[in-house]
Amino acid sequence: MFSDLPTHAPDKILQLMQMFREDTRTDKIDLGVGVYKNAEGQTPVMRAIKAAEKKLWEVETTKSYVALAGAPDYNDAMVKLVLGDAVARDQVASVATPGGTGAVRQSFELVKMVNPDATVWYSNPTWGNHVSILKYLGVANKAYRYFDAASGTVDFDGMIADLNSAKPGDVVLLHGCCHNPTGANLTAEQWQTVVDTLLAKELLPMIDVAYQGFGDGLEEDAAGLRLVASSVPETLIAASCSKNFGVYRERTGILMAVSADKGKVGPAQANLAYLNRQNYSFPPDHGARLVSMILTDDALLADWKAELEEVRLGMLELRQQLADELRRLTNTDRFDFIARHRGMFSMLGLTEDQIVTLREEHGIYAVSDSRINIAGLNTKTVPILAKAVAEVVGV
Ligand code: LMR
Repeated sequence: MFSDLPTHAPDKILQLMQMFREDTRTDKIDLGVGVYKNAEGQTPVMRAIKAAEKKLWEVETTKSYVALAGAPDYNDAMVKLVLGDAVARDQVASVATPGGTGAVRQSFELVKMVNPDATVWYSNPTWGNHVSILKYLGVANKAYRYFDAASGTVDFDGMIADLNSAKPGDVVLLHGCCHNPTGANLTAEQWQTVVDTLLAKELLPMIDVAYQGFGDGLEEDAAGLRLVASSVPETLIAASCSKNFGVYRERTGILMAVSADKGKVGPAQANLAYLNRQNYSFPPDHGARLVSMILTDDALLADWKAELEEVRLGMLELRQQLADELRRLTNTDRFDFIARHRGMFSMLGLTEDQIVTLREEHGIYAVSDSRINIAGLNTKTVPILAKAVAEVVGV
């Protein structure tokens, strides 16, 4: 029977991760998977996480189950971190999930349950796993225009035109900040137009926020989604702690269902918990516990925010350095958008062949759509990348 199982196209990002591991060159550069690396090329455990882990080891007395929705203090702290004062706590149903991906998956399942006719609209391009999960679940899906590769900016007119062709009840998948893979983000004014379109067309926003604090700051990166959640009748939000708390392998995320009508929170809460039970029963607790310890302790919170800010500013410096270096080497402004983008990623606009050349001849690993992980660079590797890019584009 097992020999009859279908084969699946490998996930591009994970495949690249494997290829990088197998490459024996010592000067190879990994700009693939979205994992933060410091100047030494390491993905450190954040200071506040280490401190919380130490404390947890001392005080934790049981590993018994917590709750289907996850620990209440984790849910409360995360709702506050993501939504701030945009909505009241009793407008939000929420469950802890295994990572942001767990929340994305549960949100699509909820959509399927409540409105099987809905089409989920996703940005072109989007994180590959969004589309993969939608297809796997058999949820109708369609791309909306998002990125203008020539200018490295959002094709906002295209986006709104496409969303205007959605039918009432359809779902619009938005990136809360730090768009993956493009790095091109909506302005405050554009978020408002998105809200107007959602309201006019009666569309349900589903916001994936996996990089809060990596773009313009913790509050700034949440401004768009807060505007949406406080303006439309219902919003789904999938948030990840993998990157901003650096707890990738602990699988720490949350799914929130926000309602303007408080009467809807009870059914939403019951159904989110039901979905957890069907899919994996209790969500993982370790990462969630560390996150809630940090978010509810003034000293840990201050230290976490300080380190997150160091990470964010470091990426901005690398962006500027890379844009400057490419401007100098190519003698054009073609790559200036890198400095204007925000978050971990930018798409360089290279062809698949050029990406293969970067990998094979220069040992530089980028995703085939030309997405690079800015945090995979350091001040020494930026000139190496810039030189290789200038070479492959032929200047
Ligand atoms: C990425 O986009 O590289 C990350 O979100 C990691 C992943 O699971 O793909």
